[in-house]
Amino acid sequence: MKHTLPFLLLATLLAVSCKQELSTPETRIDERVDSVLRLMTLEEKIGQMVLYTSDWDVTGPTMRATYLDDIRKGHCGNIFNAHTVAYTRQLQKVAVEESRLGIPLLFGYDVIHGHKTIFPLSLGEAASWDTAAIELSARVSAVEAAASGLHWTFAPMVDISVDPRWGRVSEGAGEDPFLGSRIAEARVRGFQGRDNNLADTLTVLATVKHFAAYGAPQAGRDYNTVDMSERVFFDTYLPPYQAAIEAGAMSVMTSFNELDGVPATGSSYLLKDILRDKLGFKGLVVTDYTSINEMVHHGVAATDAEAGLLAVKAGVDMDMQGEVYFNYLKQQVEEGLVSEKLIDAAVRRVLKVKFLLGLFDDPYRYCDEAREKRYVYAPAHLDAALEVARKSMVLLKNDRQALPLRKGEKIAVLGELAASTRDMLGSWKAAGDWDFMQSTVDALREYAGADQVMYAEGAKKQGEDRSGFAAALAAARKADKIVMVIGEDWEWTGEAASRTNILVPGVQTELLAEVAKLGKPVVVVLMNGRPLDLSREHRLADALLEAWYPGTMGGKAITQVLYGEYNPSGKLPMTFPLNLGQVPVYYYAKNTGRPVYLLNDKYKSKYIDAPNDPLYPFGFGLSYTQFVYSDLTLSAPELTASGRIEASVRVTNTGSYDGVEIVQWYVRDLVGSVTRPVKELKGFNRIELKKGESKIVEFTLTPEQLAFHRIDMSYGPEAGEFRLFAGGNSRDVLETGFVLK
Ligand code: BGC
Repeated sequence: MKHTLPFLLLATLLAVSCKQELSTPETRIDERVDSVLRLMTLEEKIGQMVLYTSDWDVTGPTMRATYLDDIRKGHCGNIFNAHTVAYTRQLQKVAVEESRLGIPLLFGYDVIHGHKTIFPLSLGEAASWDTAAIELSARVSAVEAAASGLHWTFAPMVDISVDPRWGRVSEGAGEDPFLGSRIAEARVRGFQGRDNNLADTLTVLATVKHFAAYGAPQAGRDYNTVDMSERVFFDTYLPPYQAAIEAGAMSVMTSFNELDGVPATGSSYLLKDILRDKLGFKGLVVTDYTSINEMVHHGVAATDAEAGLLAVKAGVDMDMQGEVYFNYLKQQVEEGLVSEKLIDAAVRRVLKVKFLLGLFDDPYRYCDEAREKRYVYAPAHLDAALEVARKSMVLLKNDRQALPLRKGEKIAVLGELAASTRDMLGSWKAAGDWDFMQSTVDALREYAGADQVMYAEGAKKQGEDRSGFAAALAAARKADKIVMVIGEDWEWTGEAASRTNILVPGVQTELLAEVAKLGKPVVVVLMNGRPLDLSREHRLADALLEAWYPGTMGGKAITQVLYGEYNPSGKLPMTFPLNLGQVPVYYYAKNTGRPVYLLNDKYKSKYIDAPNDPLYPFGFGLSYTQFVYSDLTLSAPELTASGRIEASVRVTNTGSYDGVEIVQWYVRDLVGSVTRPVKELKGFNRIELKKGESKIVEFTLTPEQLAFHRIDMSYGPEAGEFRLFAGGNSRDVLETGFVLK
């Protein structure tokens, strides 16, 4: 007869739960973990430290074909890239019913911006500056993933980045540590639920990644060397990891890169001193894909076995796909190179997560077909995806009232991307499908009427083919307005998709230039996952809408924004440079000893062939209406060490549409023991204003917001003079001053 858990394990767990009535839930779980640990052989323990991919999805370079047998033998306690109730149940059955101890498997997957219902790419979501919307996206993703048999997502990615060459900027929240931290928390809350109750079968365990500083590879080349000062690391790169951990994320993934000469996966400094000791992280540490093995290529270990020793000693609990722990750890323990205590500590953390998820109570509790049917693509999930997609879009330019479009205007829609559905999902589409989705042109036709919308491909996403130009121009000649959808193929962003130029690829912009010559209003809709050099498109188009990769409901969202059914409110979470030569260019730069005041001053920190200012600054985004800022005031000119002051600014909607504005608050510390950025974001408010309406928006300033790592690396604020700025982006701001006593 088959039972849910093998008798030995069941009896042990029952015995523990009977004698535990008086203990706390935390100690009760610890005791249950120990009770299982006591039954395990060294080999079985190491099995819990092993994570293999199934053959359902490929997210890295190697594949182990024998994972079923590994599970059966207790050599593999965790699987990723396997999903659906049917398949996870099949694998779970092998673990629970065929392995000696029947310890349930943990199932992980990269559910980054949706599981089946796909939301906009993470960078696009960040452009909403709407933490409630971002939390909702993660919540829906968690519900669909958990209902599909998953327990664990490899998200949120919280890596700060200032280099658009790096393809993975698409997965993060952009360049800013403050915005990035708020978004990191929101995503953790969404994945794990507000009370971090992992036992809730509609939550998934969140993974903060990639620890640490993965977002700063030299020259924007993926997996490349990272080198930065400790101060920059602490002040700029660490805060979002910290925020996510404080929000309760229970797992952390190590990064591929080195930092200060030490690969993160073997770094005791990062994984012990910073992660465990400084940030107080108590959860599970997993490597990135084969990142233990890669320490051999990094050149800090001669063999995989040596690399494994570095990782286990640094505190890595689980080896993703590398087969290093599996191949060498047992012998290393037997030879006394690693103490079994260290192994036990790692295994405890893995088992604890499985207990928290309730897997020891019922290993099949995430395997419910009815629940999977009910939640996957639920109408409310599609509505949420539409809402978040609309909120993520950023209007970069709108001249000659090109937008919004009006019903009745004849439009010519051009570009391969206008007819694409797959691209709209972007990279990391998890289990999302695109065969039932509406493309942009389909959605436009449905809304405006097929007879009003002509389509000609004109230009492909890539390549030099100009054979479609003539037909596209013919369509454009017959139209009142032209909508061109251009950008990057979805595979051009994400992992292993770094670029050495950030222009719109191929001949798309060449066609745009031809179309612009017709003199008709031209609207460009952009699909891409990184800041691009849009200086040519900015010159040629009347209107530019950054739609990112907008997800399952992208076609409808674009249509609603283009036709003014939704007034765009997104703001850039990353600076868009004027050209690649400015990169890295970000708003929280230092003043330098030679700042530029006059353009033709020679010996200043500037270029001779282009200005320092980017094309679109951080925080930038237009609306169909206009917002005017006035009356920036402070409740007091001085802030005391334990005090607070209230700042307020009036925002007035002077245009002819109702709209949403994201009011941004920045500060500058004028003199410090170390140099300070020219601006730092400290807060933002999302406000709705009817046309003609005016609102006073408030912001509370406290000394804690002014803290940084001072010259002696202690953390805190320094007394002195500060500037406070309020505005609709990081460049166009009102300014006042205050003193911190
Ligand atoms: C990526 C991770 C991802 C992992 C598993 C790696 O290549 O860097 O972000 O979670 O694969 O798919």
